[in-house]
Amino acid sequence: MTEVSAGREGRRVEVSAPGKTILMGEHAAVYGHPALVAAIDQRMRAVVEASSAQGVRLDLPQVDVQQQCSWQELIDYGRRAAAAWELYRETPSPEAFGRVRGDDPAHLVKVAVGEVVDFLGRDAVPGGGQGLHLAVHSEIPLGAGFGSSAAASAAIVSALLTWFGVTPSYDDLHALTLNVERRQHGFPSGIDTSTVIHGGLVWAERQADGSLHSEPLSASPPWLRRVRIFNSGRPRQSTGDVVAAVRRLRQTDRRRFDGAMETIVAATETLRRTVLDGSPGEGKMVALMRRCQRGLEALGVVPEEIMALVRRVEAAGGGAKISGAGALRGPAAGSLLVFHEEDEIIDTWRFLDPLQPVRTTLGAAGVRQGA
Ligand code: PMV
Repeated sequence: MTEVSAGREGRRVEVSAPGKTILMGEHAAVYGHPALVAAIDQRMRAVVEASSAQGVRLDLPQVDVQQQCSWQELIDYGRRAAAAWELYRETPSPEAFGRVRGDDPAHLVKVAVGEVVDFLGRDAVPGGGQGLHLAVHSEIPLGAGFGSSAAASAAIVSALLTWFGVTPSYDDLHALTLNVERRQHGFPSGIDTSTVIHGGLVWAERQADGSLHSEPLSASPPWLRRVRIFNSGRPRQSTGDVVAAVRRLRQTDRRRFDGAMETIVAATETLRRTVLDGSPGEGKMVALMRRCQRGLEALGVVPEEIMALVRRVEAAGGGAKISGAGALRGPAAGSLLVFHEEDEIIDTWRFLDPLQPVRTTLGAAGVRQGA
């Protein structure tokens, strides 16, 4: 059990975590290949305060939840989700995942509280009529590839640990946050988790032993400021559904799968070299985006409507790619990165009007105390 300091009454802890956008390497990351990910300065904020009511008051305006829960309920909720996830890991199926995820809109938050209490030990929770109030506020579009669940998990876990007087190591924070992500998505690669904790630009790659090596890159290449981000809307399928469809493609059409992976990995590795050698990337970014997008299309994670938009970007001299899981069907595929050497020209492309521009800076600070 971890040492927990007493005397929390009256304290207010606020922790924020950034969203993220995957520059390249989504889906490939699930199979141990590298990804390059940037934190964005849209943030998720978790605020923890002492309250006179027993247990935990959840205040989650984005998912329309205001609920009073006992500590025991939250501990049980977290343990049930963990046990269901172990079964899902042994025998993955949509039904088994349904038993992990359930349909509670406060699922992620309840799991996060349960994980933290299990980590600290049951004795850590306040007794004697004291409880806490946990509020979560998001500037990050939900469920659209901007890392909202990783940011919420990291901000909540970190705020709760801080409130209990524990300063977590990177490894503990990563492990707890990833567990919450697993109950939300099934088998996340962990790249979102690393990025929202570290912030900046992160190169992440799974090691032979299954652990994720993540390396913050201190470079800030000039082209990064010219990458535009658009939100095409919340995909109809969850990240878990799309990842499962790619897994099926791997079983049914191994050649297509391998070819797509090779394309994505080659583009991602070239992008990393472009970041590290400090070259301006002139002329390269458009080609790289186009190449990576072709790999994603071959995996079947770009619906036709979005593919048609991407073709128009290309016809106008730019490059575009989905960022994140994408979608199997429907008009929306979450986040879309658009690049042109002269980025102002993108503002004149009326065909992008149906998408929502996400005005943000890439390379934002990682999880931190304060807003
Ligand atoms: O949750 P999203 O949309 O950011 O997608 C995550 C990226 C994937 O590579 C598709 C899955 C993963 O866990 O890395």
